[in-house]
Amino acid sequence: MIPDSFIEELKYASPVEQIIASYVTLKRAGTRLTGLCPFHSEKTPSFTVFADGQNYYCFGCGKGGDVITFIRDIENLGYVDAIRFLAGKAGLTVPEDAESNREAKQRARILEMNRLAARYFHEQLRSDTGRAARQYLLGRGLTGKTIRRFGIGYAPDTWDSLRNHLRQKGFSDADMQSAGLVKPGKSGNSYDVFRARVIFPIIDLRGAVIAFGGRLMQGEGPKYLNSSDTPVFRKSRNLFALNYAKAANSDTLILGEGYMDVIAMHQAGLENAVATLGTSLTPEQSRLIAQYAKKVVIAYDSDKAGQDATKRAINLFNQTGVSVSVLSMEGAKDPDEYIQKHGADGFDRLVGASKSAVDFEVGKLKAQHNLADPESRVQFLNAFCRLMADIQNDIVREVYIGSMAEQLKIGREGIASSVNTLRKQGFRATKKREAHNLVTSVQDNLGTTDKRQGKLGANADIASLAAQEQLIMILMRHPDFYSAISGKLSPEDFGDSGLRDIFSAISERLSSSLPIEPIHLSGMLQPREMGKLTGLLVKSRELEFYKTQIDDFINTIKKAQGKKSAQELSEMSPEEYSRYINSLRTGKK
Ligand code: CTP
Ligand code: MN
Repeated sequence: MIPDSFIEELKYASPVEQIIASYVTLKRAGTRLTGLCPFHSEKTPSFTVFADGQNYYCFGCGKGGDVITFIRDIENLGYVDAIRFLAGKAGLTVPEDAESNREAKQRARILEMNRLAARYFHEQLRSDTGRAARQYLLGRGLTGKTIRRFGIGYAPDTWDSLRNHLRQKGFSDADMQSAGLVKPGKSGNSYDVFRARVIFPIIDLRGAVIAFGGRLMQGEGPKYLNSSDTPVFRKSRNLFALNYAKAANSDTLILGEGYMDVIAMHQAGLENAVATLGTSLTPEQSRLIAQYAKKVVIAYDSDKAGQDATKRAINLFNQTGVSVSVLSMEGAKDPDEYIQKHGADGFDRLVGASKSAVDFEVGKLKAQHNLADPESRVQFLNAFCRLMADIQNDIVREVYIGSMAEQLKIGREGIASSVNTLRKQGFRATKKREAHNLVTSVQDNLGTTDKRQGKLGANADIASLAAQEQLIMILMRHPDFYSAISGKLSPEDFGDSGLRDIFSAISERLSSSLPIEPIHLSGMLQPREMGKLTGLLVKSRELEFYKTQIDDFINTIKKAQGKKSAQELSEMSPEEYSRYINSLRTGKK
């Protein structure tokens, strides 16, 4: 976002008549200048620049706007680039540039500190200081090779060793704080965040260390500690080991819960394993996974928390289109433990036998019901049918219904017909929603497309369009009248989409008491709408407006709508719906 203060500076540094004069030969008549339009071919000038309003409008082709819009159109640039272009001419620096420059430098410094910290922790692990940590890791079955590959380290049991190390390398405490490596202490000195912990560096796809996770080996405190979010790290958007998993070039990713599980899986040869970073899976992470894999195997802990998290993850993945299967582990808490017990091969077999998400859900339902009890059995079947009704693929549905009928030794037909009934109900609900959308869209078009052809209550709609235009003109001329309009009219009341966008941009600024000259609106509107807006400004030059007109305009707009409310629509029967839609189509209300 480019701040208003800069737009204001740019406005004064780039008078529209001067900027346009370098593209178009202009002839002056008072505050107006005219010339041949650079946007369409013409022999007599209809391109007009208004120096007083700092805008331009072509009466021939309808192009118009402020100085930024002009540069966008003539140089074919986007909004920000047009501003850069003008700033360059005026010798100004766009603040975003300076800002992003500062941010880029800060990011680079943080990444450098992280790199040095990771190396420091790794050296500590290999030194005498790290003896116990080394034994801990080897004791958990990690090989020296795995420790090196993941760059695992050890943060010594002191308050300041990393801080001193980074100070020596020339970084300030403030730098280290921005990286989340130290925290400010009461004495004014910063202290290390990671102390007496095994350290797992989190590395992004470019190979940069972006954060750390640290595990306590013994003693008090949270078992795991993760870096807080920093300018180079968002927990919710990163995954542990994605850098290695991506290099494995598989179309499948295995999703685990924690660092040790993932590392154990990699060591067992499953180099496509990743994990979230101390949070449950986020929508961003599910999309990230879908970006790199067609299929995901969820390998969460076997406890209740893990199974609940699995269900949430399935829902998220279903929205991304990636196909999901679920690992079911028995006799072990998590993948790490399973591998310890059954070896790499055992775990590999488990992955091979991972069940589809449907199997997982059915399994969960079964576990929740006592199938020997008739009542519970009926409840189970009902839930099973609802689950089946949601499956879109006919074959998959048939297979599951068939196998359930066999398992419970009941007729296939009964289950199938229940599922069908549920599907029809769902279908009707969908139909009703579609009908609703259709009606709304037909209603929306009422105010615009057909009115000029004299259909659909032509007069009311032309009057409404004129009233919409007048209201915008009033606001542009008298922004202080906004309070008389706000609350009575919303952008949705503007049937014309261009006018709707203009009104919505104007309202947004006026409701924060910000100025609404064209140059302020050009960041919120496309050049087309800017043309429309300046057209109205030109028209409004010949008009006078009074506050008392406002209510009339609002009434005209409301009357022409004659819309049914969403509430009314939802209460209609299907027959009423279709009659209403037809009446809209034929114009009989
Ligand atoms: N976690 C965390 N903070 C904690 C506990 C756990 O951020 N206090 C996160 C860590 O990312 C951890 C994951 O949750 O890797 C899984 O936690 P948990 O199942 O408790 O640990 P394990 O992965 O089994 O770790 P370990 O085997 O080392 O006990
Ligand atoms: Mn574990």
